[in-house]
Amino acid sequence: MKIFITGANGQLGQDLQKECKRRGIDFVATDVLKNSSQRAACSTRSSGFASNQEPGTGNRTCSLDITDLHAVPKILAETKPDAIINCAAYNAVDKAEEDWKTAFMVNSFGPRNLAIISEELRIPLIHFSTDAVFDGTKGSPYMIWDEPNPLSKYGQSKLFGERLVSQHCTRSFILRLSWVFGMGNINFVKKVLQWSKETAELKGAYDQTSCPSYTVDLARAILDLLNTGAYGLYHLTSSGYASKYELAQETLKLVNWKGTITPVKSSEFESAAQRPEFSAMDSFPLKETIGYELPHWKDALARFLQEIKRESGG
Ligand SMILES: NC(=O)c1ccc[n+]([C@@H]2O[C@H](COP(=O)([O-])OP(=O)(O)OC[C@H]3O[C@@H](n4cnc5c(N)ncnc54)[C@H](OP(=O)(O)O)[C@@H]3O)[C@@H](O)[C@H]2O)c1
Repeated sequence: MKIFITGANGQLGQDLQKECKRRGIDFVATDVLKNSSQRAACSTRSSGFASNQEPGTGNRTCSLDITDLHAVPKILAETKPDAIINCAAYNAVDKAEEDWKTAFMVNSFGPRNLAIISEELRIPLIHFSTDAVFDGTKGSPYMIWDEPNPLSKYGQSKLFGERLVSQHCTRSFILRLSWVFGMGNINFVKKVLQWSKETAELKGAYDQTSCPSYTVDLARAILDLLNTGAYGLYHLTSSGYASKYELAQETLKLVNWKGTITPVKSSEFESAAQRPEFSAMDSFPLKETIGYELPHWKDALARFLQEIKRESGG
C-alpha cells in the first residue's frame, strides 16, 4: 500500500505521515514548496522517487501545487500510489473574502484535478471539507444529510470542492473536519497559549461553537476509514463540542494560567468573514463504519498540550 499525501507539511499532513510510518505504510509526501532550495532538492530525485524506499521511512516532501492541472497527473503517473489523501488547502478564512480566486483554486479546482486522476487510476481519494459549509442556525449538531449554506467565501470554496470531487471521482471520501489542532501549523489552541504569555486578561467568543479536533486522532480514523472502502461523506471530529471561550478556558486551565478570561460576543473581534454560530457536527455513521468514536475534545486537548510540552523539552 502506498499513499500519496498532498499538503503534507500542514497540521493533518504531518500527523498522517507519522501514522503511516507507525503502521509501516509507504507514502509519498508532497506540498507546495515555496523555498527554491527545497524544490531543487526534490527535483534531483528520479521519477518514482518514493517507491524504492523502505515503506514509510526516509520520505522527503516533494513539490506539488495541486492547482497545476498538468503536474498533478504527471507525478501521480510516476509514483503510482494506491490512494490519495488531499490535505492541501487554503485555510485563511478572512483573507479568502478578498483573495477568493486563490481560495477556489486551492479548495475547489485543485481537488478536482486530484479527483480526475484518481478516477483515471481507479484509486480512492480522501478529501477534507469543513463545518464552515453550514450557516450555524440549526441549533443542534449537523448531520451529513443537512443542507449546507456557507456564510463565507472560504465555506463556499470548500463546498464547491466537495461537489467537484464527488462529480469526478466514484471512489471518494469527503470528510468534514472542524477546529483542527496539531503540531504542524498555527491553530487556535497555539494562539491562546501565545496570548496567555503576553497578557493576564483574555476574551473568548461564547457565540461560536464547534468540535475542536486533534490531528493525531483524525489521522488514525482516516486510515481506518480508508481500509473500509465505504466511500462517501462523513463528519469526522473529536467527540463533544465547545465554544471558542470554553476551548480557550480549558486550555488555560490545563497550563495553570493565572490570568482571567471573559466570555464575550464574537462581534468584539474584527473579522472580514462571517462564521457560523453553532456548527458542531454529529459524526453518525462514523462509529458504525470504523467501530469507534474519536475521543472527547477535552481528552484530545490534554494530549496535545502534553505533546507541545514534550516537543519543547518541558
Ligand atoms: N485548520 C482547521 O481548523 C480546519 C477546519 C476545518 C477543516 N479543515 C480542513 O482540513 C484539511 C487539513 O487542514 P490543516 O489544518 O492540516 O491545513 P494546513 O495546516 O493549513 O495545511 C495545508 C497545507 O496545504 C498547503 N497548500 C496550500 N496551497 C497548496 C497548493 N496549491 N498545493 C499543495 N499544497 C498547498 C499549505 O502550504 P502553505 O502553508 O505553504 O500554504 C499547507 O502545508 C484542509 O482541507 C482544511 O481545509 C481545517
